[in-house]
Amino acid sequence: MKKIFSVVLSFALLLSLASCGGPTSSNTTTTTAAPQTTAAPQTTAAPQTTAAPETTAAPQTTAAPSGKVDIGIVLPTKDEPRWIQDETRFGDALKSTPYKSQVLFSQGSSATEKTNVESLISQGVKVLIICPQDATAAAAAVEEAKAAGIIVISYDRLITNTSAVDYYVTFDSVTVGKTQAQYLVDHATGTKGQPLYLYAGASSDNNAFLFFQGAWSVLQPKIADGTFVVENSSEAVGLKDKADLTRDEQSKIISQITTNWDFNAAKNIATSNLTAVGDDAKGDVLILAPNDGTARSIADTFAADPAVKSYVITGQDAEKASVQYIIDGKQNMTVFKDVRELVKDTITMAESVLQGKTPDTTAKYDNGKIQVPAKQTTVIAVDKSNVKAALIDSGYYQATDFTGL
Ligand code: BGC
Repeated sequence: MKKIFSVVLSFALLLSLASCGGPTSSNTTTTTAAPQTTAAPQTTAAPQTTAAPETTAAPQTTAAPSGKVDIGIVLPTKDEPRWIQDETRFGDALKSTPYKSQVLFSQGSSATEKTNVESLISQGVKVLIICPQDATAAAAAVEEAKAAGIIVISYDRLITNTSAVDYYVTFDSVTVGKTQAQYLVDHATGTKGQPLYLYAGASSDNNAFLFFQGAWSVLQPKIADGTFVVENSSEAVGLKDKADLTRDEQSKIISQITTNWDFNAAKNIATSNLTAVGDDAKGDVLILAPNDGTARSIADTFAADPAVKSYVITGQDAEKASVQYIIDGKQNMTVFKDVRELVKDTITMAESVLQGKTPDTTAKYDNGKIQVPAKQTTVIAVDKSNVKAALIDSGYYQATDFTGL
């Protein structure tokens, strides 16, 4: 279904649109993202448009005339609750601004993503907020936007290997991985040889590397001294004595343990991992799961294996289904990334550039081509002990969304 949402019109505020001045900011962190090599699926599809619930605009199937949209938002897929949530939070945050906006979904296709960007360009968008489906494939789309004088904000995931990214708004993704790994270390039951299963996100997503980098920095000493034994990656075992992995080494491990951010792929890889090992690699196990969707698939798979006595499994995103899993004792933790904060930072940044100002940034990320000025948001570990305080009392979710709280 295609719908378009528009927020109230005000061209007055747009007259002072910045002509892409170079940002100056207090940069305290540099995180490196080398170029990625995974190809995106090449399918062609029409732009995917979704309405924010609070708007009344009629469904529309043809592109609006030039100048009809101020802020364009392109998100990777509707198939994961994470990105539906971002759409909703953008709708909430933009309601009170004078800007007209449109959210488009790429549905896992870089070709659709490019079509979406082109559709926004044709509608006169001034700021493009884009979470790439594939970090390198998105470069062509944003280069087109840049050539049209549009300010490009890479959202949550960094677009790599191009100079056509003005800003990056993100959570602290290395800390996400560290937080997951620290939870496993803190909840390990064995002191020698406890089985550890590692899983990662899609190698087309720069974040998958940052999460893994953070996790490895905490887990590696425990793997090196034999406290944990990695059961599902010969590459990780081979590199167990190396604290700092190169991008290429990370890639080799990730290619053995990737879920591709896909629930079914996660289930399949967990199933084949458990089939490949003997019962001595089961018992009380630790599982690094990269996000909530894959964590639920992997947890269900491990729970169904009679030789697995207990497991501790991580997650990320605080998806409602995983919050329920945590309450029910089926997933141990999640990393809460407050999307309200990310959206707020992004809108503030978009407003700054629309008003001709230089946005505040706090970090720089090397995207393989340039140092991208970035605004970074912190994350919180959530398990059964603080789930109510972190997610209900903070107003993020309603208590009635869950049972057994
Ligand atoms: C995001 C995660 C998300 C994952 C899969 C990552 O880039 O940071 O929040 O779970 O993609 O969509």
